[in-house]
Amino acid sequence: MCANFLSTTDLTQDELERLLDGAARFKSGDDQRKPLAGRSVALVFFNPSLRTRASMQVGIYELGGNAVILEPGASTWTLEHREAVVMDGDKTEHVKEFVRVLSRYCAVIGVRTFARLENWEEERTDPVLNAFASYAEVPVINLESAMHHPLQSLADMMTIREKLGSGRKRVLMTWAWHPKPLPMAVPNSFALASAQMGHDLVIANPPLYELDEELMETLKGKAREAGGSVEVTNDVDAAFDGAEIVYAKSWGSRHFYGETQSDVEHRGAFRADWIVDAEKMRRTNDAVFMHCLPVRRNVIVTDEVLDSAASVVIDEAENRLHAQKAVLAKLIGEKS
Ligand code: CP
Repeated sequence: MCANFLSTTDLTQDELERLLDGAARFKSGDDQRKPLAGRSVALVFFNPSLRTRASMQVGIYELGGNAVILEPGASTWTLEHREAVVMDGDKTEHVKEFVRVLSRYCAVIGVRTFARLENWEEERTDPVLNAFASYAEVPVINLESAMHHPLQSLADMMTIREKLGSGRKRVLMTWAWHPKPLPMAVPNSFALASAQMGHDLVIANPPLYELDEELMETLKGKAREAGGSVEVTNDVDAAFDGAEIVYAKSWGSRHFYGETQSDVEHRGAFRADWIVDAEKMRRTNDAVFMHCLPVRRNVIVTDEVLDSAASVVIDEAENRLHAQKAVLAKLIGEKS
């Protein structure tokens, strides 16, 4: 495992399985270690959060440590991440000093930095996350960047294993209509981790909502290595046939980055059909319903499905805590 936790890309299936085993031991109470005793972890939030912030803070406490929560531009100075810029605008401090100072106080630095949905070619390279990783002198954890949300996908894989057991499953990840374009980190990471775990992944999305081409090549390769498969379809109804897991998420089109209104107008045609409802769930193989939350009721998914016994969204959110403890314990264990 690498010193940072930025995406699951570099982890083998075996390493992912071991992290899930560790998360399960934290959940059952079999692992009571306190590897963060006497140490602090910085959690840097450029964007809002409920689950990531609360579960990291609680997890750090349960591992014996102290969480230092920082919000650039609110509770701390505004931050510049670009190299060799003349900082005569609205940015007060450079990431270069910010993370090196934090590295003197903290054993790990977590950072949440969403896509701004302005410049696809730039944002797909995760510039802010990578600036943190390149200057930090301690491990960096991605708390959701423009392209990846690996802590979410780890909890998602844990939830699938917990609900349906180990082994290959038929997993549907379906785009859903939402009034505005959202970042692609969650679908990217869920699709990637599903492929790495060897599941048979179906990605359903309307035209122009395809995932990043390079990421698709990567995850197809991972699926081949792990004995799984990847299929992409525009047929939102047939996609549900035989699914064992239905994972709903909305995301913005990379073709409309910087043109929000064009995306909003284009997606209007998909509002009626691209929602998870009971009729679609009846086509599945008794699938569980998953969503990373927060979710807009009766927009992404109907109340009937979200409130049904098939919905595992609260367990999925709980598993964020256990999965993150496994990641923190692994990062600290490797360092000491
Ligand atoms: N799923 C997730 O990351 O939730 P928050 O945005 O509330 O942290």
